[in-house]
Amino acid sequence: MSAGERRKTACVTGGSGYIASALIKLLLVKGYAVKTTVRDPDDTEKNSHLKDLQGLGPLEIIRADLSEEGSFDQAVSGCDYVFLVAAPLNLMSADPERDQVEATVQGTLNAMRSCARAGTVKRVMLTSSTAGVSRRPLQGDGHVLDESSWSDVEYLRANKPPTWGYSVSKVLAEKAASRFAEENGIDLVTVLPVFTLGAAPVSKAASSVPVTLSLLSGDEAQLAILEGLQSVTGTVSITHVEDLDRAEVFVAENESSSGRYICRSHNVTILQLAGLMAQKYLQYNVNADRCVLLPLFQNKCLAFSTKLRYETKKVQIFHMHACSCGDGELLTTCVFCRFRGCPEQSKVCISSQKIVGEGFVFKYESLGEILDDLVEYGRCRGSKSDSRIVVG
Ligand SMILES: NC(=O)c1ccc[n+]([C@@H]2O[C@H](COP(=O)([O-])OP(=O)(O)OC[C@H]3O[C@@H](n4cnc5c(N)ncnc54)[C@H](OP(=O)(O)O)[C@@H]3O)[C@@H](O)[C@H]2O)c1
Repeated sequence: MSAGERRKTACVTGGSGYIASALIKLLLVKGYAVKTTVRDPDDTEKNSHLKDLQGLGPLEIIRADLSEEGSFDQAVSGCDYVFLVAAPLNLMSADPERDQVEATVQGTLNAMRSCARAGTVKRVMLTSSTAGVSRRPLQGDGHVLDESSWSDVEYLRANKPPTWGYSVSKVLAEKAASRFAEENGIDLVTVLPVFTLGAAPVSKAASSVPVTLSLLSGDEAQLAILEGLQSVTGTVSITHVEDLDRAEVFVAENESSSGRYICRSHNVTILQLAGLMAQKYLQYNVNADRCVLLPLFQNKCLAFSTKLRYETKKVQIFHMHACSCGDGELLTTCVFCRFRGCPEQSKVCISSQKIVGEGFVFKYESLGEILDDLVEYGRCRGSKSDSRIVVG
């Protein structure tokens, strides 16, 4: 940036979160001045990465809560761009209409009202989710869903499949934000991430990271979420957090961008994901009690003879993959019968054609590269004397 040139200023809400932390880093590296919001600035454990990021450029940390009207006024004031990333996540609530749907819609509108009052904001990027795209009754296979597709709110409210409130909250918040933007002359673009993976500045990532690492750790609760994701959406669609945040900045800076943008680089199934991870990460100490991926050596399951005491009849070798290990031996891996019955092919393909058509280029083209980064991120959070994957 040349002397005298004004830095562009961006607000990123929810700086304590996974996606926002990586977005803040990207914006600082690009030369932006950044303001971020957190609910509790005194929570040093949750916010320590923000102190580190202050070394990259001007980063102001401001307290704000989506449930309080006017709470974001200070954070968005003077900003060119606002990235609304913070959102409630109350998947286990006994009252999803109140704690998930209403909280998300009202929280989004609160932040939008602050943007309208600021008078400086050129564009608002709302981070939604493809949970607002793909959850609708679909017969048969081979569906390609793009930004024109909306999850079916009536169907979700009537049938209440797992995490229905999350999908409903994303659809209704997007629609409410879009109406508000139109009525108040705000330029609004919505970004729709799929399952987002890879390393980010936060030391403890929630949701997508521990859910995927559960294929190595065997964490049952997280595995159930992964299975639920595939059963309700017909796919496990993946993108790297860096690509997602690059897409957020791309649609902010690209003047002609408008409407919704899906950000997805890979469509896979649990079986494909588990098979690939089994091939790649044999070196990890999988949890012996709830092991999911079992290495086979010359068609004999090493796990049977060493750590695991499962009887053969309890384990059905459902999926086999061959790969070479370092010393030239042929290794084969199998995926525990845990996933018996899971479809081998995605029923649905989530398309990112719109953003690609406008010139966005994904950096992480290989799923293996995304997983390597994710596993390294999980490993770094574990103990140094142990290669075990840490989740949560
Ligand atoms: N991760 C994914 O795979 C994925 C996929 C699709 C869409 N998304 C969407 O992307 C966004 C960010 O996700 P993430 O994975 O980064 O989630 P995350 O790590 O859980 O971060 C969520 C952030 O929202 C903040 N927040 C929650 N309730 C709030 C409230 N009432 N007021 C102010 N801030 C509040 C949290 O603050 P506290 O730290 O104070 O709780 C946290 O900073 C969300 O909208 C999510 O739905 C994520």
